[in-house]
Amino acid sequence: MAAQDSGSDSMAGNEPEASVTYYRLEEVAKRNSEKETWLVIHGRVYDITRFLDEHPGGGEVLMEQAGRDATESFDDVGHSSDAKEMLKQYYVGEVHPSDRKAEGSEWGNVSVRKLTQWAKRGELEETFPIHLLGGC
Ligand code: HEM
Repeated sequence: MAAQDSGSDSMAGNEPEASVTYYRLEEVAKRNSEKETWLVIHGRVYDITRFLDEHPGGGEVLMEQAGRDATESFDDVGHSSDAKEMLKQYYVGEVHPSDRKAEGSEWGNVSVRKLTQWAKRGELEETFPIHLLGGC
């Protein structure tokens, strides 16, 4: 079951949206088979079941990440902006704010080099939650 969140659950600096469906990581973890394949990239949940056969990098690498947070492996490949654009087709919702807190360390490890790279490509805003840099 998806946890529908109408905005009562708030996270500092992150405005919850009424229309967004939030999923617990526990629910994502259940979708780890070829029948139903979900994964998380940068706090967003994707249903990539129909993409397994189409992925240029093969279905096997996706299955290894099935039900999990694939952010690091996705970024490590250095996927093109076309690949990032493709993600939108498979978007089903956001990781529930309570689970995102535990995930915060994901951003704690981002290097200045990586941030600069994203900024140069004009991808910073779509990739990184810039409000985290505000610090106040
Ligand atoms: C829904 C998520 C994903 C999408 C939409 C996607 C899309 C793509 C696309 C379009 C390419 C062709 C190269 C490019 O345009 O960058 C590609 C290549 C590749 N992807 Fe993904 N990918 C996804 C997830 C992943 C994940 C989670 C992994 C790693 C576990 C991965 C590993 C690879 C590899 C190894 C290649 C081949 C690179 C090469 O041979 O040059 N992908 N992917």
